[in-house]
Amino acid sequence: MTTKIILTGFMATGKSAVGHLVAKQLGWRFTDTDREIVARAGKPIATIFAEHGEPRFRALERETIAMLVNDPRLCPQSGNPLPEVISTGGGALVDERNCAMLKRAGIVMCLTARPEVIAARVGRSATRRPKLLEGNLPLEERIRDLMAERAAAYARADITIDTSDLSPVQVAERIIDAFVAREKARCRPSA
Ligand code: S3P
Repeated sequence: MTTKIILTGFMATGKSAVGHLVAKQLGWRFTDTDREIVARAGKPIATIFAEHGEPRFRALERETIAMLVNDPRLCPQSGNPLPEVISTGGGALVDERNCAMLKRAGIVMCLTARPEVIAARVGRSATRRPKLLEGNLPLEERIRDLMAERAAAYARADITIDTSDLSPVQVAERIIDAFVAREKARCRPSA
């Protein structure tokens, strides 16, 4: 059985809010890699970028992902790895090592949204998202550029869900449906 659902995708596509809902509905643990990084570093992400640079943040992100996917604890009932929903930061999948680790651990679902929807959702919180400040471009233009730059990385996900016109509850339902469908297909005996 697949015991990890990994939510990834561009900033402000709802990964954390939806991840929380999915975990609650399945009765699984929920972990947000950005939160883990902030807790481990003892400072906000924007400060990690400003004081130590993006490479340090990416190293912390990779270490955090490795720690989560290699968690040795097992479910006492099933003997499988602990079931968990993991939300990653928007740039995590760009590093092929992260992508490989996450795909080995479970099903990787990429949340996406139209650039104008993301710009509206980000609003003033753009100042807390260092990748959106790069180049000093108008917000929507920067979102389009970064999305295009990352398109190949996001395409490595197992499933993509466009959240533009969906509520977090609807996105959570789609995720659970996709997960159940995949598990059923995996269990079906081959002819
Ligand atoms: C980043 C996304 C952020 C955070 C960091 C870098 C990115 O997470 O990890 O600011 O490179 O896209 P969210 O996607 O949760 O905002």
